[in-house]
Amino acid sequence: MQPEIDQMQKAVSITDKAFRTVLDHIKPGLMEYEIEALISYEFTRHGANGFAYEPIVASGQDACVLHYTKNDKQCRDGDLVLMDFGAEYANYAADITRTIPVNGRYTKRQKEVYNAVLKVMKEAMQILTPGTVLSEYNQEVGKLVEKELVQLGILSQKDIDNQDPNNPLYRKYFMHGTSHFIGLDTHDIGNRYEPIQAGMAFTVEPGIYLRDEKIGVRIENDVIVTDNGVQDLAKDIPVEAEEIEELMNANN
Ligand code: GLY
Ligand code: MN
Ligand code: MN
Repeated sequence: MQPEIDQMQKAVSITDKAFRTVLDHIKPGLMEYEIEALISYEFTRHGANGFAYEPIVASGQDACVLHYTKNDKQCRDGDLVLMDFGAEYANYAADITRTIPVNGRYTKRQKEVYNAVLKVMKEAMQILTPGTVLSEYNQEVGKLVEKELVQLGILSQKDIDNQDPNNPLYRKYFMHGTSHFIGLDTHDIGNRYEPIQAGMAFTVEPGIYLRDEKIGVRIENDVIVTDNGVQDLAKDIPVEAEEIEELMNANN
């Protein structure tokens, strides 16, 4: 319903404001909980009830820990920080993830991985259409991640040709689903076995986690499925690597 979408949009827009504040303030030496505090400040200031769920602010290798919520480390020069956070507004949830370089510049390798995840997020949005079943969609997105892992030199075509189809190798590097229902709850209820319908709200959140390289990237937007492609509620939240770098370096 449109009034519900409006509340969700507001939750996402407040989350956008908090993200931009983080981009302005983050630098090497900042503690993860200081980032959490900045976000909390912006949420409250802009009328949110608070966090829709416990935020994840995970720098370095902890970006590869899916439910890391300790948020108690110092952010180090050269590391990425993965931030999974969302405002709750009028009881509606936002669930957004951005992964940014602590020092304002992605390394070449970090950017390769980042752009691979971003590409998958854009492709996933294209196949999140009415009539699709979530489990099949998840498998399709898994294949997209698999392709990127080959490009990144993590998997070889030979590995893939020999893999157990019931336990594909990409799952080591992408070990969660791509989308879940969202609305009044961050993980809202819905029937994942029935075809998706126009008007449903989902997250789109692919990731690639390379523990050995201390690189964990997830990007998460919230979308409404329509008959003409998804309506991306998070389209205004900076996501291109170059835009993030530009904003982070704007005041230097
Ligand atoms: N923040 C939890 C999730 O992305 O599903
Ligand atoms: Mn999330
Ligand atoms: Mn999510």
